[in-house]
This record gives sequence, C-alpha cells and structure tokens, in this order.
Amino acid sequence: MLSKNYSRLAKTSTLFILAMAVSFHAKIAGADDANSHFPNIELITQDGKTVHFYDDLIKGKIVAIDFIYTSCQYACPLETARMAQVQKKLGDRVGGDIFFYSISIDPEHDTPQVLKAYKEKFHIGPGWTFLTGKKKDIDLLSKRLNVYSDPSINADGHLPHLLIGNEATGTWIRANALDNPSFQARMIGDFLDNFKHTDFKAEQQRQTGDGSAISNFDRGKYLFARDCVACHTMGQGDKVGPDLLGVTTVRNHDWLVKMIQHPEQLLKENDPIATAMLKKYNNVRMPNVSVNNDELDLLLRYLETATAHNNKEATAGANAVAAKPADASTATTHPNR
Ligand code: HEC
Repeated sequence: MLSKNYSRLAKTSTLFILAMAVSFHAKIAGADDANSHFPNIELITQDGKTVHFYDDLIKGKIVAIDFIYTSCQYACPLETARMAQVQKKLGDRVGGDIFFYSISIDPEHDTPQVLKAYKEKFHIGPGWTFLTGKKKDIDLLSKRLNVYSDPSINADGHLPHLLIGNEATGTWIRANALDNPSFQARMIGDFLDNFKHTDFKAEQQRQTGDGSAISNFDRGKYLFARDCVACHTMGQGDKVGPDLLGVTTVRNHDWLVKMIQHPEQLLKENDPIATAMLKKYNNVRMPNVSVNNDELDLLLRYLETATAHNNKEATAGANAVAAKPADASTATTHPNR
C-alpha cells in the first residue's frame, strides 16, 4: 500500500516532496565519510565492458540505482517497467546528467548477454546500464548502500529499493522503485538537481490546468495510467504486455477479473490462455498490483469505454476492433493484433 500512498503524494506540492526527501537524506548521508558508502568495486556492463562503481558510475553524477535479477518473477518486472517510465519522463537528460543503473544480485546467472537481452525486452534506451560482477562484491555494495535485503524476505528474495542520489552534492535518498513515475522523475530530475532544470512558470500553469480538470477526472483512466501503462497501451500496440484495446470483448468477465486481481492464480491453475500468453510475452508475468474491487470496476469500465469509443471513431468499421462474443475466451490473441 506504500506505493499507493506515495502516488497520492505525487499530486501534492513540491514542498511536501522536499520535506520527505530531507528526512531520508539525513538517514542515508549520515556517515561522515561519504566514500565509505561507495566501494569502487569492479562491475561488467551488459556490453561486456569493465567499469568501477565509484569512479565510472557515480562520481559527479545524478544516479538512480536498483538491484534486480532477471529471473525474478513478481515485483521486478514491474520495477523495471516503472523505471522505464521514469526514464521516459526525464527524456534525454538520462545519459546526459542523469544515469540509471540496475545491478544484478544473481550475477552467476545474469551474464552480460542475459542482461542485454533483458534490457531489450523492456525496450530500455541509452543512459541506463545493466551490470553484473562478483557476487561478494555486489553483496558488499548493496550492504554499504543500505539497500541489501535478506533473500528470505519474500517470494522475490529482495525488496524494490531504489537508491537515488547526486554524488556531487552528497544527497542520497532511498526510495521505492514501485513509486509513481512522475513523483520519481521529479525527485531525480528536480529535487536532486536543486531545481536547476525546473521551469517554475510552466509548473504553475500546469497546476492551475490540473485543478480545473479534476471535476471530470476519469478515475478509471487515472488508475490505468498509474498501475498499467508501464506495460500496456489502449490501441497503441503491444508494449511489455499486450495492447488491451478490445480485451473486454474477447475475454469473458470472470477470466478478466482474475487476470487483473490474481494473475498468479491463473498460471497456477494452468489456465491455457494465461499460459500461452506468458510464453508469447517473453515470460514476463503480469504482476499482481493489488487491485481492489472498487478499482477493478473502474478499470473494467475504462477498458470497455475506451474500446467502445475507439469503435465509434473507426470509419465504417475499417479499423474497428471486431467485437466477438464473450465465449471467444479460448482465443489467444486479440482481433486487433
Ligand atoms: C510489469 C508489466 C505489467 C503491468 C504493470 C500490468 N500488466 Fe497486464 N500483462 C502484462 C503481461 C506481460 C501480460 C501478458 C503475459 C501474461 O499473461 O503474464 C499481461 C496481460 C494482461 C491481460 C490479459 C490480456 C489479454 O490479451 O487477455 C490483462 C487484461 C491485463 N494484463 C490487465 C492489466 C491491468 C488492468 C493492469 C493494471 C492494473 C496491468 N495489466 C498491469 C504485464 C503487465
């Protein structure tokens, strides 16, 4: 639930963000010798290049660092997809003054080749490097950075910690990689940068604009944007997961409910559609993002409305999504694919 509270936070003022960040700052940057947090260990990039953690990766830079492993099935795909959204929001600053690093905590399995394939699977652009190395070095690093989690902590064997910081100013914040991407982007791009790139005038205008639009705010659309767009589109094609335009017409209601609220159960029951889909989408699992019943109704209504709207717009049905009866639930693909 932490991430949901945070996403609400993202809507509140910069001041609030500031207050929170400072309190984390005190916790992490408390040590007098900042360098002791940053062992200069050797790591290898997804392209096979050897680099040193302190000298090559963080010195003088604004960075976001998480620890992942590519065979992780539960939170990690969501973590990576969320980070990809943050990267998109920050635009070409990533690779310019901001750098993202994902370091494998399963370096024996995650060779540079495996990391490279993972990076491609998530359509990750430049400025974000995946790294492997010696297990004992990486354990030491995550402990020093205060983001180590005991492998027995949960089914994933780690927590979605994200460490963001600016080495030049010595500000470090331990965040949650599953947080709202806009919030995360503001923390990394504005706060850590002492608001050097922030356009305050545009910011003010945006806030008044938002205020007047709230009355007809579509909550379902908002939820979809918050919890699903990291991996899905409505009519813009497949992303990490399938394009969901028309999904309410090809799948039956009960199956959809299960897929959205308890995707892991469908796989456990060897549901043929879910199993085939998992294969098709490179074994990236649809994560359980804790959708409650109210949110489920809103999301389903949004999926339906957006599909209906699209059908109406399509000229003489040329691009229309063919509406199929609900019993077509054995189809493994959408008619629009
Ligand atoms: C981390 C990425 C990710 C996120 C976030 C995510 N999904 Fe998915 N979703 C997938 C993948 C991958 C698949 C297909 C593979 C599978 O079934 O595991 C999928 C499949 C689905 C399907 C089945 C599609 C079909 O063609 O039958 C539905 C419905 C769905 N997701 C809805 C949602 C909704 C609603 C949300 C937000 C509350 C959401 N997903 C969030 C990755 C994601």
